[in-house]
Amino acid sequence: MSRSAHPAGPRHADVLPEGHYSAPAADLNALDPKVWAQTVTRTENGSVSVGGIDVSALAEEFGTPAYFVDETDFRARARAWRTAFGHDADVFYAGKAFLSRAVVRWLDEEGLNLDVCSGGELTTALSAGMPADRIAFHGNNKSVEEITRAIDVGVGRIVLDSFQEIVRVAHIAQSLGKRQRVQIRVTVGVEAHTHEFIATAHEDQKFGIALADGQAAEAVRRALSLDGLELVGIHSHIGSQIFDMAGFEVAARRVVSLLAEIRDEHGVELPEIDLGGGLGIAYTSDDDPSEPHEIAKALGEIVTRECEAARLRTPRISVEPGRAIVGPTAFTLYEVGTVKPLEGLRTYVSVDGGMSDNIRTALYDAEYSVALVSRTSDAEPMLVRVVGKHCESGDIVVKDAFLPSDLAPGDLVAVPATGAYCRSMASNYNHALRPPVVAVRDGEARVIVRRETEEDLLRLDVG
Ligand code: LLP
Repeated sequence: MSRSAHPAGPRHADVLPEGHYSAPAADLNALDPKVWAQTVTRTENGSVSVGGIDVSALAEEFGTPAYFVDETDFRARARAWRTAFGHDADVFYAGKAFLSRAVVRWLDEEGLNLDVCSGGELTTALSAGMPADRIAFHGNNKSVEEITRAIDVGVGRIVLDSFQEIVRVAHIAQSLGKRQRVQIRVTVGVEAHTHEFIATAHEDQKFGIALADGQAAEAVRRALSLDGLELVGIHSHIGSQIFDMAGFEVAARRVVSLLAEIRDEHGVELPEIDLGGGLGIAYTSDDDPSEPHEIAKALGEIVTRECEAARLRTPRISVEPGRAIVGPTAFTLYEVGTVKPLEGLRTYVSVDGGMSDNIRTALYDAEYSVALVSRTSDAEPMLVRVVGKHCESGDIVVKDAFLPSDLAPGDLVAVPATGAYCRSMASNYNHALRPPVVAVRDGEARVIVRRETEEDLLRLDVG
């Protein structure tokens, strides 16, 4: 994705500052379906609705800031992944992107499995009735308590991330009289084209066991020698918000060649490979993500081809999309509090949330879109920076975007594509109350995660 400073186009100031933004859309009232959830539309009265409900009514009932998730869209995307991968493959939704009990039930109903990476996510999954054998447990430093519980409840697989963990999981399984199905997570040495903090398959990082210097082969040797473990496959996750399939190709090729080595050395053909998550979504109109069926086809072809070349039976493939399922299905609704034009620079629009409900802009320099959703406007576009109400200047929600120049306090604005890694990474910074998540479907809205209250804050403060 490349965006460049755009010195031309309509503007409110004489000079537009250097920045990382595209030209304003021809019609600021238009909602690009690429970045908005499926049922979001502009209604006849000019405001925006989701699931058939007007955002002003939603703001009235649930307050702002709040996340609204389009349940119809979530289910459709989950189903699209499930259908694209078919019966010979498994889709594990990555719960870290966003997890709640309602989401677990939607996944269960749509036939997806679940990847969890903490005791808390495991508890949420089990408490909503996800069968344990459809849960995969991840993490680079699972505690003894987490491992014990995961084995005890019978999770379908544990993904092993280090030599110490191989032994730890084997011992715990044995002491419980069980044999745990496991995969080994390897780092394939791919530099995914994404932000450094969310790229995970180059070798200098904390996840997985390197393929390159024979470490992964040694990990396989150890896992195969331990009675408490049933080694079923190899796992690779190369990063997040990736558009280029080339990284997955290389990863698949290297994982398959490890399977061939394992066959040659041990006479065992491991039956599974997991290629992780990481597929990108559109945060702005400049992003062009692939569809699940394209991804499934590409991955299936690569694995089949490589296995044929190595004369291996094609293993069962699994993938772990998080962002690609939930990301596009939600938006955050904010009320505008102040509008501060800085002549010759830009206009700062302060909303009633900020880095506590979306840390991604501050953390990764993430780009987002924004729209005025409580009404339409024909006013000319102004360059804005949407900022929160926290006590630091890095508290930015949308760095560079255009909104109508008649924007005023009390207007509602929405930031689309906030379904992934926003509520799940939300904080109480400045004792902000984390916003609710409201699911909207067919004219009905219901809270699936309630808004935090001041009582919640005080309940934890026991001093
Ligand atoms: N599988 C594994 C082993 C993972 O570590 C992750 C994400 C996923 C699947 C799901 O990746 P997705 O499809 O959602 O990209 N907080 C960052 C993203 C961190 C991703 C961590 N692992 C962000 O906001 O961009």
